[in-house]
Amino acid sequence: GKVRKPTNFICTISDDRGEEATYCGVPISEVIEKGLSIADVIGLLWFKKKFPEWASGFIDMVIRVVADHGPAVAGAHNVKVTARAGKDLMSSLVTGILAIGPRFGGAIDGAAKYFKMAKEKNMSPNEFVEYMKNVEKIPIPGIGHRIKSTKNPDKRVELLKSYAFKNFPSTDLLQYALEVEKVTTSKKENLILNVDGTIGVLLVDMFRALGYTEEEIDELINAGAFNAFFVLGRSIGFIGHYLDEKRLDMPLYRHPTDDILYDVKRPEGI
Ligand code: ACO
Ligand code: LMR
Repeated sequence: GKVRKPTNFICTISDDRGEEATYCGVPISEVIEKGLSIADVIGLLWFKKKFPEWASGFIDMVIRVVADHGPAVAGAHNVKVTARAGKDLMSSLVTGILAIGPRFGGAIDGAAKYFKMAKEKNMSPNEFVEYMKNVEKIPIPGIGHRIKSTKNPDKRVELLKSYAFKNFPSTDLLQYALEVEKVTTSKKENLILNVDGTIGVLLVDMFRALGYTEEEIDELINAGAFNAFFVLGRSIGFIGHYLDEKRLDMPLYRHPTDDILYDVKRPEGI
């Protein structure tokens, strides 16, 4: 019989061999005819699912609320400095993306991981806070903000929470995270459940409601799939900041030396 040549690659999300390419089996023309949204396309290409309306609505809201947060945040600052050094769109954009990490925008996976673990282990909110401090010895991902606090709440978090309370079948992990927030904000008012944390726990609630097993959710988190929502959404803002710099024709940026503490000591023996 015929022997199939072993392939170097496997693809389970899209196919370009027919008359038109398909997203998880759905031709692009059908995507357009049926009015599928960006969130629906994400559902097909990232998760191989047609999300129900409430889940697509949530994904769409996540992308819209994380799209930008001004020029001062870590990633946008990188983009602006790079654009002003004369670099192109791609180079400027990636410097912004590369700043996304555990402290800035990339705490979604960590928040999902640790809040989920704590709830599974039946830790009380107090026990969880103590565990993160004494055992993991890291700040709780998804808690804390430089400028937002109980006195200056993050409107994005309010929007996401009220959408979930109204549309999600269950908000179990969000409710737990809000109990943890009560503990952390009693210590310091800026230790709120931040936008990363809210997205992280709500994605766990969402995937549970979509029938994913705990192991499947853990796999998504370990693959970085939750942070991907911030990477995609914030790229919109980063590109905006790049175009802004070009439009304004801004010169090379050099940081003022009076804003740097120079503390250089010549070593002994030289
Ligand atoms: N969990 C526990 N304690 C915390 C946390 C946290 N997540 N964040 C800050 N603290 C404590 C610190 O231990 C410190 O305590 P101390 O005064 O007793 O030493 C105090 O709060 C101040 O800490 P700083 O790091 O100086 O606070 P800062 O305002 O600079 O931190 C930050 C803001 C970086 C967001 C921080 O809260 C953090 O690391 N949070 C976790 C990561 C995270 O969720 N990042 C996403 C933010 S949202 C976004 O980027 C879109
Ligand atoms: C953001 O969305 O970029 C912010 O929450 C982070 C910040 O420092 O304001």
